[in-house]
Amino acid sequence: MIRFVPYVLLFCSTAFGQSAKKPAYQRSEVKTEDRVADLLKRMTVEEKAGQLNQWAGDLNTGPASGNADWQYKLEAIRNGKVGSMLNVVGAAKTRQVQEAALKSRLGIPLLFGYDVIHGYKTIFPIPLAEACSWDLQQIERNHIVAADETSSAGVHWTFGPMCDISADPRWGRVMEGAGEDPWLGAQLAAARVKGFQGNLDNKHILACIKHFAAYGAVEAGKEYAYTDLSREALWNKYLPPYKAAIDAGAASVMNGFNIFEGIPVTGNKYLVTDVLKNKWNFKGFVVSDWNSIGEMVNWGYATDNKDAAFKALSAGSMMDMETNAIVKFLPELVKEGKITMKQVDDAVGRILYYKFKLGLFDDPFAYCNEEREQATLFNTANRKQALEAAKRSVVLLKNENKVLPLKKDGRKLALIGLYATDKAHMFDFWKGQGNPADAVSLQEGMSAAFGASNISYSAGYTANSNTVDQALITEAVEKARAADAVVVNIGLSGELAGEDRALANTAIPANQVELLKALRTTGKPVIAVVSAGRPLILTGITDLCDAILYSWILGTESGNAIAQVLTGEYNPSGKTVMSFPKATGQIPVYYNYFKTGRPSPTDGNGNWYSRYRDVDNHPLYPFGFGLSYSHFTYSKLVLSDSTMNKTGTLHVRVIITNDGEYDGEEVAQLYINDVTASIIRPVKELKGFRKILLKKGESKVVEFEITAKELSFFDGAGNSVLEPGRFEVFVGGNSRDVLKEGFRLK
Ligand code: BGC
Repeated sequence: MIRFVPYVLLFCSTAFGQSAKKPAYQRSEVKTEDRVADLLKRMTVEEKAGQLNQWAGDLNTGPASGNADWQYKLEAIRNGKVGSMLNVVGAAKTRQVQEAALKSRLGIPLLFGYDVIHGYKTIFPIPLAEACSWDLQQIERNHIVAADETSSAGVHWTFGPMCDISADPRWGRVMEGAGEDPWLGAQLAAARVKGFQGNLDNKHILACIKHFAAYGAVEAGKEYAYTDLSREALWNKYLPPYKAAIDAGAASVMNGFNIFEGIPVTGNKYLVTDVLKNKWNFKGFVVSDWNSIGEMVNWGYATDNKDAAFKALSAGSMMDMETNAIVKFLPELVKEGKITMKQVDDAVGRILYYKFKLGLFDDPFAYCNEEREQATLFNTANRKQALEAAKRSVVLLKNENKVLPLKKDGRKLALIGLYATDKAHMFDFWKGQGNPADAVSLQEGMSAAFGASNISYSAGYTANSNTVDQALITEAVEKARAADAVVVNIGLSGELAGEDRALANTAIPANQVELLKALRTTGKPVIAVVSAGRPLILTGITDLCDAILYSWILGTESGNAIAQVLTGEYNPSGKTVMSFPKATGQIPVYYNYFKTGRPSPTDGNGNWYSRYRDVDNHPLYPFGFGLSYSHFTYSKLVLSDSTMNKTGTLHVRVIITNDGEYDGEEVAQLYINDVTASIIRPVKELKGFRKILLKKGESKVVEFEITAKELSFFDGAGNSVLEPGRFEVFVGGNSRDVLKEGFRLK
């Protein structure tokens, strides 16, 4: 091999002229892996530590680390002490900061990261709402738009999708995820990664799945709290979405703030090395969460930041977001023989690989084009996508006496609710660069749809308060009396959704309940539009409203989307991906709960079974539930056989009829029950769905396939297990109202 080198160099110098004088890592024609290897050979351990260091720029999305001002940061960047910046955005700003990085000894470009949780400038529905559309193509398109906007603003990498499964609406971060179901979570995670990353050109961004792993299991929904779960739960309930995201090509993974088996996940070798790197063969890189390396000291798992850096790196974690520990202590740890250069090169090499892959060494400013940025951000096409996404995310929970849709016939509508006009409440913390002033409020959307002169507005309540303001209620009631129908926007301000927004009480605030009671006395139809980043407890209000439209947090086009649903221009098709609890004490309540030795007797009259004495076992609205203005009837569920071989395929057919008065879309859902297994299995598990359009009066045969994949589960060692025996198959329009059949796996 060595004897070839002069010939190779000779060939290069003639074939590539001047470029041969450049080191291999600077030459675009060299294979990426070889460029990485060449660069690693040239780097000092301090420079390698710098590549593992990530600092925040203009915005703190966690407790401030005490890093000094921009001059200090730019100086450190020029000295090769920073490999990535988060929260630096805009083509001009990122260009300016990138210029500093190019002045470092080896000119290694920075990677810019930013949380694009539901859009960059054009804000889409929160991920939880978007998931309720069950529309994977739409969701992928939403992420393509978000990636286009983000990349046009100089950013290469986003911290999403969030893949944490949770059935606990007390946890403020359920808004960032895909709900309570691991199978659906996996489909959504893959669609989101594909949309973000595309083919990794400069219109796309790197994805970062988070928070690895099982952050959604956080105790009692309390942020930054302990998590305690078995390996069986880890593999079957929590890991599937992360795995699907990795299979879809996700470039990076973020550690969580939580614990697994008594060890912070940031320093957890089982999760990061054994599962992620070895079992799943993950080739991308791992970034800590904000100071999650340093927080291992607070957890009492590391003595100081040096020990924390050692434990994180030893576990296989790589980039350090905002602790400053790796950049500071890695050279010492290497010198002391605690961390090997092989470990360092593995971590740094993975990060460099993606910098090469994005083309940053060849054109560090490929994402810094201000003209493109201006033409892309919040353009008409992007807003149109956001509207499509938003109307598909709305879930109709109740529609008594077909009070909806509302005809546009000049009828007078009272629009009540602070959130319907006050845009400050429309968005959550993760609004990216979205500007509330640019968003369409419900009042604006309804005025455009019904005519401003037909809408009379009154606030009705003050934000996020239980204190009843009688004067506001009286005014609202007057407006209601003078109208033909009342649309009342209740719920929680967007401010209360997201990180560090855990709530012990997730009911509708008392002042809004009093408002509804007063509106009820008018005898006018009351249509509640509920805004929130989580399923709230609606038990006290269902009887006070004729219709309930759950609008979550819908983003920029919120008002237009809700108006289109109210008028029937769009027939709602969303189905909730989290069960709605009847009471706080029921939480977590989820459709795929485990079997019990004492199940509820079907007639409900027995004793000694698993239940509460004061509230029944069922959620108010089950997973998968959502009404349409049409009505769908399921009939003739047929399986292709009563037995199936392990290598076979079972076909499941059902007829769905639209026997309502409108054309509409339905999400048909397939569930299975593994009747007897070597570990306790859930009573039902989602394994398929089809979203179909049925014209008024139309019937369609909908078909699903069941193979070994749908019937397998994981043992605690993470092995896929397929066990013969009896299975039940359910098909329906939600997880509760289903037709049932059965077969035996041989
Ligand atoms: C959050 C992450 C986020 C990071 C960077 C943390 O506080 O937990 O989800 O990506 O901040 O903003």
